[in-house]
Amino acid sequence: MSVAKPLPHDAAALHVTGQARYVDDIPLPADALHLAFGLSEIARGHITQMDLDAVRAAPGVVAVLTADDLPFANDVSPSAHDEPLLSDGTVHYLGQPLFLVAATTHLAARKAARLAEVTYSEEPPILTIEEALAADSRFEEGPRVYGRGNVDAALAKAPRKVSGQFEIGGQEHFYLESQAAIALPQEGGDMLVGSSTQHPSEIQHKVADALGVPMHAVRVETRRMGGGFGGKESQGNALAIACALVARATGHAASMRYDRDDDMTITGKRHDFRIDYTAGFDDDGKLLAVDVTHYTRCGWGMDLSLPVADRAMLHADNAYWIPEIRITSHRLKTNMQSATAFRGFGGPQGMIGMERIMDHIAHDLGMDPVELRRVNYYPSAQAVSADASGGSISPKMKAKTPYGQTVEDFELHEMTEALLASSDYAARKAAVDTWNAENPILKKGIAFSPVKFGISFTLTHLNQAGALVHVYQDGSIHLNHGGTEMGQGLFQKVAQVAAARFGVGLEAVKITATDTAKVPNTSATAASSGSDLNGMAVKAACDTIRDRMAAYLAQVYQADISEVRFADGHVSVGSETMTFAEAAGRAYAGRVSLSSTGFYKTPKVDWDRIKGDGRPFFYFAYGAAITEVAVDRLTGENRILRADILHDAGASLNPAIDIGQIEGAYVQGAGWLTTEELVWDDKGRLRTHAPSTYKIPACSDRPDVFNVTLWDTENREDTIYRSKAVGEPPFMLGISAWLALSHAVAACGTGYPALNAPATAEEVWRAIRGMGRGMGDGV
Ligand code: MTE
Ligand code: MOS
Repeated sequence: MSVAKPLPHDAAALHVTGQARYVDDIPLPADALHLAFGLSEIARGHITQMDLDAVRAAPGVVAVLTADDLPFANDVSPSAHDEPLLSDGTVHYLGQPLFLVAATTHLAARKAARLAEVTYSEEPPILTIEEALAADSRFEEGPRVYGRGNVDAALAKAPRKVSGQFEIGGQEHFYLESQAAIALPQEGGDMLVGSSTQHPSEIQHKVADALGVPMHAVRVETRRMGGGFGGKESQGNALAIACALVARATGHAASMRYDRDDDMTITGKRHDFRIDYTAGFDDDGKLLAVDVTHYTRCGWGMDLSLPVADRAMLHADNAYWIPEIRITSHRLKTNMQSATAFRGFGGPQGMIGMERIMDHIAHDLGMDPVELRRVNYYPSAQAVSADASGGSISPKMKAKTPYGQTVEDFELHEMTEALLASSDYAARKAAVDTWNAENPILKKGIAFSPVKFGISFTLTHLNQAGALVHVYQDGSIHLNHGGTEMGQGLFQKVAQVAAARFGVGLEAVKITATDTAKVPNTSATAASSGSDLNGMAVKAACDTIRDRMAAYLAQVYQADISEVRFADGHVSVGSETMTFAEAAGRAYAGRVSLSSTGFYKTPKVDWDRIKGDGRPFFYFAYGAAITEVAVDRLTGENRILRADILHDAGASLNPAIDIGQIEGAYVQGAGWLTTEELVWDDKGRLRTHAPSTYKIPACSDRPDVFNVTLWDTENREDTIYRSKAVGEPPFMLGISAWLALSHAVAACGTGYPALNAPATAEEVWRAIRGMGRGMGDGV
């Protein structure tokens, strides 16, 4: 029985019939309380007075809590203990929770929260990158720098150079299910928490700290999220802690969910960046040196900003060997929502920096942008393993990333070739040029971009996972592991692994909710490593049970253990055959343990983030995309006409789910770079806090022609059935849409377009206006 099948998502039928249960659908006791935060109205300063009498007197209000009412840790931070649940008197951003209301209904709590009379002593907020730099407002002392060589000297003697600066906006996660939690008080002060989280173990940890109890007194359960995208790695902590505190204080169950505007106002988003660059190269387009600086707006709390900014640096090379390089990263502290994980975790920002450089160089040289990229690619996996010396620098040396890891599995040479052919790139590029020569108003653009994305948590100890599997005496299987389901199909993939290990159909496997009482000390389901880690842990658990069953049956039938086979729902021992259920019943009667844990830790990874040296990634995932767009030169309005994608999911565990991941990720990536624009005013108020003003892609924004193909090869590393992680890498294929827009803008005049992201209609129009007037040179 092969594991790889294009089966539907395990909950697809439940999703489309509305039966899938999310946290807010879990039935609550009739006396449950509903919570809402009262939010700060200023971005920076101190509370001088907080009068909550009207809040307390409002209809339905049962309790109102402030920081003074929190007996233990007033902290929701995943990292630096710098984020109080409720303000301690200092205000760091507009939207910061100041107090907590518990009422008999959700609406009563929200209405009451608006009745507070709060006065502040205001300070001017630090909002922009320039303001943060001027105030030296940052996390970590000074910038972090990775790289190698003497970049200044190399740039000084490079025959050609380009420099530029551009901005990359942040992104709201816009998971369809907003943040939500419930807490149900148990006997003896224990707490049962339901949370829409990617990280149940952290919820457990933070709730335990807030209640002043050991972790064993808190159990967290997560059946599924209605999307997470990184926004539920840490941002669910506040709601779960708030529910647990109220449940503890009142003895009532407590429930909290953010309304969309509150969710957007309170929670962190993707980090926005400004990137400055200078690149030196020769007349053939060979890169000689790159100097790139990331300015990262982290918002007010540390949250996950350091590893996000690190990952941006680790993707500043993308797919190219750069002999001498300096990557400088400023992690700026501003009075805004604390920016957090978002699909790609900084990788997209780092990668778009390099793709912009390549685009600029191609424009400068008048060289085909794909050719330029191929000239600078890392050497192929074959060349690196043969290490045949080609010229003075060997393939192995050319495979070294700026952080010292050797790229041993590079596949983009072959993938690029295949994608150029399948998408008919050369002919279409020529057709775009002809179109642009003939049409003054509607301009077209076409662009290629590759993705090389590192797989593993850069915090090495997070690369571990556990599983718990039971086989019942009727042959049915209870499956549990530390990963969480957010729509990405992890549970389905892992269930396919379990079914394959026992040689049974999927109907024998019960997928169960993530539960801190079943598998402890789990990592967030993040870094795309959910199926890599949990698939392996489940395999280990299943194999333990299978081996015990085999040993027992071999003994009963006086056979060798190697003669016991599990396939097609049956177990055979030599010529004897029985159903899997019969085999389980026999093993039970023979007093064989049919329950096992499983554990996995990723091999080979070893990383020093301070030095910027080591092997942060077990392997790389690859992809390539070609996008064609049309732009209205008079208005800047634009759309994606066609996208062709070739993506490497290794030997896919489930091609249907993987293609779904690739399609969704591309559209989300293109949305980030085109229509999704976050706007804060000069008081630090987020003005785009609802879908009326914040535009995520709709169905109609999907490319008219959308060809997605899997690059069907086995992972060179020993991953679960040789598959590759697929959750985040294809997000960055959306960069090709932004480059295609830049290409269309370039067709509107002379010079290199100064296009920022997101390339909204206004931004495209602005960039077109800058063309051919000496203002367009990437500045
Ligand atoms: N797909 C869906 N449908 N919903 C999501 O929230 N999150 C993405 C990606 N794909 C997400 C998704 C992110 S940010 C990550 S890290 C991975 O899924 C996590 O799951 P995995 O490790 O199982 O791929
Ligand atoms: Mo994904 S940003 O690693 O949750």
